[in-house]
Amino acid sequence: MCGIVGYIGMQAASDILLAGLQKLEYRGYDSAGIATVSGDRVRCVRAKGKLENLRQKLHGQDDPATIGIGHTRWATHGKPEERNAHPHLDRDAHVAVVQNGIVENYRELREELTAKGYEFLSDTDTETIPHLISDCLKSLKLESLQDKHAEHNEPSLFFAAVRQAVSRLEGAFAIAAICADFPNEMIVVRQQAPLVIGFGQGELFCASDTPAIVPHTRAVLNLENGEIGRLTPLGVEIYTFSGHRLAKMPRLLDWNPVAVEKHGFRHFMLKEIHEQPGVIRDCLAAYFDSHWTPETRVSPVTLGLEDALLEGVESVQVLACGTSWHASLVGKYLLEQLAELPTQVQYASEFRYSPAPMRSNTLTIGVTQSGETADTLAALDMERERRAEATVADRARLLGITNRPESSLGQLVPNIIDTHAGIEIGVAATKTFVAQVMAFYALAIDLGVRRGKLDVDRAMALIDGLRQVPNAIETILSSQEDRIEELAHDFSETSDFIFLGRGINFPIALEGALKLKEISYIHAEGYPAGEMKHGPIALLDARVPVVAIAMPGSVYDKVLSNAQEAKARDARLIGVVPDNDPNASELFDDVLAVPAIDEVLSPIVASIPLQLLSYYIAARRGLDVDQPRNLAKSVTVE
Ligand code: F6R
Repeated sequence: MCGIVGYIGMQAASDILLAGLQKLEYRGYDSAGIATVSGDRVRCVRAKGKLENLRQKLHGQDDPATIGIGHTRWATHGKPEERNAHPHLDRDAHVAVVQNGIVENYRELREELTAKGYEFLSDTDTETIPHLISDCLKSLKLESLQDKHAEHNEPSLFFAAVRQAVSRLEGAFAIAAICADFPNEMIVVRQQAPLVIGFGQGELFCASDTPAIVPHTRAVLNLENGEIGRLTPLGVEIYTFSGHRLAKMPRLLDWNPVAVEKHGFRHFMLKEIHEQPGVIRDCLAAYFDSHWTPETRVSPVTLGLEDALLEGVESVQVLACGTSWHASLVGKYLLEQLAELPTQVQYASEFRYSPAPMRSNTLTIGVTQSGETADTLAALDMERERRAEATVADRARLLGITNRPESSLGQLVPNIIDTHAGIEIGVAATKTFVAQVMAFYALAIDLGVRRGKLDVDRAMALIDGLRQVPNAIETILSSQEDRIEELAHDFSETSDFIFLGRGINFPIALEGALKLKEISYIHAEGYPAGEMKHGPIALLDARVPVVAIAMPGSVYDKVLSNAQEAKARDARLIGVVPDNDPNASELFDDVLAVPAIDEVLSPIVASIPLQLLSYYIAARRGLDVDQPRNLAKSVTVE
């Protein structure tokens, strides 16, 4: 949430900052701003709303500055107004700061600083930081004047001031700060919010996420919690909050900046929906050994996890939020049905404050595509701390499933399953969701075989079935997309939707409803189909379409009966059904046909028409599909 960028080098900073913010706009788009230093002054320009507004404001203004910071905001403290936009300045407009995160003790700091005469112009927590830095700087300058021989073991007074100020802050934050009195340095700080430094030729970058940096360089260094970086024309110095210098080396990123372009699709979301066959193929190649025989290894799964992580596991708990929580519910089904492992799936935000009692031999899995979701990280961290006194085996039983192994999650847990989906820009998760589900297939098959609960023939049949999924998605895209686009016209004025599913497809009903809500702003609910009659059926009439996921298998007939009940209440009935079902068109008003597939493998296939339906309804309503209101791609605040 919120994106920050910084540049120091020889080129015009403002162009680079704007280009960087464009790549980070998925993190928030309530307002944007940049601050640069040239001569002995800070120039700060901010605008409410999308980055385009800032771009227009800056148009035609020549700014020669070669150092600057920028911000794109997702509002937490204070409305999305220009006065609350970052960067924030100190009283003398000499210090400029951008922040991603929350300063939890900002009220006390604000009172203290107000009493000292600092005037606050915004409602934000961030504005305390430039005032605090300025205050520390003043005291440090005074000390130096009073005692000309005073030895400061600090690289610069500005660095010392930021370090002192940061030691007063509580919360989770990433900060970049510049100062007109120190025009050749930028200080960056990380405490539980991501910050990466990029190393160019005679220039340095910093950003909340790598897409802002890769157009310039692939040599990057992730700051870790409790670290401060000093960026100058001579290079980067990294220190701990207590001032110890650290020796750290950049690493090379191996991904391609072209991946963050739309390639002719109208929206990133549509492009990402179309990328799903490729994503699944990549997961298949990474997770399953195509030359496996029982003689070579115990299991055909190649997740690269240590044996100690999985051996002796008797139950699983999964912590996640939003779409990742839905993928985890599919995972629960798989772990319970294929590996006979009792599995609990908890909202990370709830688990933090009411954790389930700790049990030994439990594998805890954090699922987060971004690897930066504050609630998921905090819940996992809490679990890690709870286990500090547990056996060595239990302390090790922490696993992350993420699309960003280099993220904070990667630093928090010792074991990671990479979901290989490539960067996802659309705020609504699509390809990362199906990749998470793939990771759960691999884990459940692996555990099932290792525990002797899943026989090898069934495991191989499931893997063969998964190998059909990319083709099945391609069939849906080629045969259904136009139909779904047309169907979406009928719902541009609809205000409520119900999604029904059972068993392994109940989470897909939840996910279908979430996709529709977040990008089309239509109220939608997902229910286990059998629960309808216990209350929600009262909502139904001819104005409330019902989407039922009816895939052949253990609950097929049950879902059809539940759909009949909805039809009897005049609801328009849309069925996600196999393309070989001759009776579907009798029951359903509209049929979204998908290739017939084993029930246990059906969730990914069933979710594709629902993604398309949401996409085309939102696009038809003329909404900003990739950047829906009030949302941000990575939720780095509690
Ligand atoms: C929905 C969506 C969100 C995220 C949630 C968790 O389309 O994207 O619900 O799934 O914010 O995000 P991650 O997976 O990054 O932890």
